[in-house]
Amino acid sequence: MSSKTADSSPVDDLYVMKAEHDVQIKLLSAFGDAVSRQQFKVELEGILKQLMDYTSVHFLSEQLLMRMYAYPHYEQHEQRHTQLMERIGTLQESLAEGDRERMLTMVQHLRDGILGHIEQDDAALAHYLQEALATHR
Ligand SMILES: [Fe+2]
Ligand SMILES: [Fe+2]
Repeated sequence: MSSKTADSSPVDDLYVMKAEHDVQIKLLSAFGDAVSRQQFKVELEGILKQLMDYTSVHFLSEQLLMRMYAYPHYEQHEQRHTQLMERIGTLQESLAEGDRERMLTMVQHLRDGILGHIEQDDAALAHYLQEALATHR
Protein backbone atom coordinates (compact mmCIF):
# COMPACT_ATOMS: atom_id res chain seq x y z
CA MET A 1 0.00 0.00 0.00
CA SER A 2 1.32 3.43 -0.80
CA SER A 3 2.65 5.68 1.91
CA LYS A 4 2.90 9.36 1.25
CA THR A 5 6.14 11.05 2.18
CA ALA A 6 7.72 14.38 1.36
CA ASP A 7 9.85 12.48 -1.19
CA SER A 8 6.87 10.87 -2.92
CA SER A 9 6.57 12.01 -6.54
CA PRO A 10 3.65 11.69 -8.96
CA VAL A 11 5.62 9.06 -10.89
CA ASP A 12 5.91 6.82 -7.79
CA ASP A 13 2.24 7.40 -7.05
CA LEU A 14 1.25 6.38 -10.58
CA TYR A 15 3.29 3.21 -10.29
CA VAL A 16 1.74 2.31 -6.93
CA MET A 17 -1.76 3.08 -8.20
CA LYS A 18 -1.36 0.70 -11.14
CA ALA A 19 0.09 -2.05 -8.93
CA GLU A 20 -2.84 -1.67 -6.52
CA HIS A 21 -5.34 -2.00 -9.39
CA ASP A 22 -3.73 -5.30 -10.36
CA VAL A 23 -4.12 -6.62 -6.79
CA GLN A 24 -7.71 -5.36 -6.63
CA ILE A 25 -8.66 -7.24 -9.83
CA LYS A 26 -6.77 -10.37 -8.72
CA LEU A 27 -8.64 -10.46 -5.41
CA LEU A 28 -11.97 -10.10 -7.20
CA SER A 29 -11.05 -12.87 -9.66
CA ALA A 30 -9.95 -15.08 -6.74
CA PHE A 31 -13.33 -14.52 -5.12
CA GLY A 32 -15.22 -15.33 -8.35
CA ASP A 33 -13.15 -18.51 -8.83
CA ALA A 34 -13.77 -19.57 -5.23
CA VAL A 35 -17.54 -19.09 -5.70
CA SER A 36 -17.44 -21.17 -8.93
CA ARG A 37 -15.42 -23.92 -7.24
CA GLN A 38 -18.03 -24.13 -4.47
CA GLN A 39 -15.50 -23.24 -1.76
CA PHE A 40 -16.68 -23.11 1.84
CA LYS A 41 -18.47 -19.96 2.90
CA VAL A 42 -15.78 -19.15 5.48
CA GLU A 43 -13.14 -19.08 2.72
CA LEU A 44 -15.32 -16.83 0.56
CA GLU A 45 -15.82 -14.52 3.52
CA GLY A 46 -12.04 -14.32 4.00
CA ILE A 47 -11.35 -13.37 0.36
CA LEU A 48 -14.20 -10.89 0.25
CA LYS A 49 -12.99 -9.26 3.48
CA GLN A 50 -9.52 -8.91 1.95
CA LEU A 51 -11.05 -7.37 -1.19
CA MET A 52 -13.10 -4.95 0.88
CA ASP A 53 -10.18 -3.90 3.13
CA TYR A 54 -7.75 -3.60 0.24
CA THR A 55 -10.19 -1.62 -1.90
CA SER A 56 -11.04 0.68 0.98
CA VAL A 57 -7.36 1.51 1.64
CA HIS A 58 -6.69 1.88 -2.10
CA PHE A 59 -9.58 4.34 -2.47
CA LEU A 60 -8.41 6.34 0.56
CA SER A 61 -4.92 6.40 -0.91
CA GLU A 62 -6.23 7.79 -4.21
CA GLN A 63 -8.33 10.34 -2.36
CA LEU A 64 -5.25 11.48 -0.46
CA LEU A 65 -3.39 11.83 -3.76
CA MET A 66 -6.23 13.88 -5.22
CA ARG A 67 -6.09 16.24 -2.26
CA MET A 68 -2.29 16.46 -2.32
CA TYR A 69 -2.31 17.49 -5.97
CA ALA A 70 -5.51 19.59 -5.78
CA TYR A 71 -7.39 17.39 -8.25
CA PRO A 72 -10.40 19.34 -9.54
CA HIS A 73 -12.76 16.32 -9.87
CA TYR A 74 -12.29 15.03 -6.33
CA GLU A 75 -15.97 14.88 -5.35
CA GLN A 76 -17.13 13.01 -8.44
CA HIS A 77 -14.28 10.51 -8.08
CA GLU A 78 -14.95 9.98 -4.38
CA GLN A 79 -18.63 9.37 -5.17
CA ARG A 80 -17.64 6.56 -7.57
CA HIS A 81 -15.53 5.02 -4.80
CA THR A 82 -18.52 5.12 -2.46
CA GLN A 83 -20.72 3.43 -5.08
CA LEU A 84 -18.15 0.67 -5.66
CA MET A 85 -17.78 0.06 -1.91
CA GLU A 86 -21.57 -0.23 -1.72
CA ARG A 87 -21.48 -2.88 -4.44
CA ILE A 88 -18.93 -4.86 -2.43
CA GLY A 89 -21.25 -4.48 0.57
CA THR A 90 -24.14 -5.90 -1.48
CA LEU A 91 -21.92 -8.80 -2.47
CA GLN A 92 -21.30 -9.47 1.23
CA GLU A 93 -25.05 -9.52 1.79
CA SER A 94 -25.62 -12.07 -0.95
CA LEU A 95 -22.78 -14.17 0.48
CA ALA A 96 -24.56 -14.12 3.83
CA GLU A 97 -27.70 -15.35 2.01
CA GLY A 98 -25.66 -18.06 0.28
CA ASP A 99 -26.99 -17.32 -3.21
CA ARG A 100 -24.03 -18.36 -5.41
CA GLU A 101 -25.70 -17.68 -8.78
CA ARG A 102 -26.49 -14.15 -7.68
CA MET A 103 -22.95 -13.75 -6.35
CA LEU A 104 -21.44 -14.70 -9.71
CA THR A 105 -23.64 -12.16 -11.49
CA MET A 106 -22.64 -9.53 -8.95
CA VAL A 107 -18.94 -10.37 -9.26
CA GLN A 108 -19.21 -9.76 -13.02
CA HIS A 109 -21.10 -6.51 -12.39
CA LEU A 110 -18.51 -5.37 -9.82
CA ARG A 111 -15.65 -6.34 -12.14
CA ASP A 112 -17.17 -4.24 -14.94
CA GLY A 113 -17.65 -1.39 -12.47
CA ILE A 114 -14.06 -1.49 -11.17
CA LEU A 115 -12.55 -1.87 -14.65
CA GLY A 116 -14.71 0.97 -15.95
CA HIS A 117 -13.62 3.13 -13.02
CA ILE A 118 -9.94 2.33 -13.66
CA GLU A 119 -10.27 3.03 -17.39
CA GLN A 120 -12.15 6.30 -16.95
CA ASP A 121 -11.89 8.03 -13.57
CA ASP A 122 -8.52 6.63 -12.52
CA ALA A 123 -7.09 7.18 -16.01
CA ALA A 124 -8.22 10.82 -15.84
CA LEU A 125 -6.53 11.14 -12.43
CA ALA A 126 -3.36 9.47 -13.77
CA HIS A 127 -3.36 11.90 -16.69
CA TYR A 128 -3.68 14.82 -14.27
CA LEU A 129 -0.78 13.49 -12.18
CA GLN A 130 1.36 13.12 -15.30
CA GLU A 131 0.67 16.76 -16.11
CA ALA A 132 1.65 17.66 -12.54
CA LEU A 133 4.86 15.70 -13.05
CA ALA A 134 5.62 17.56 -16.31
CA THR A 135 5.21 20.95 -14.62
CA HIS A 136 7.48 19.91 -11.70
CA ARG A 137 10.41 19.07 -13.97
FE1 LIG B 1 -10.39 5.68 -8.13
FE1 LIG C 1 -8.17 3.01 -8.36
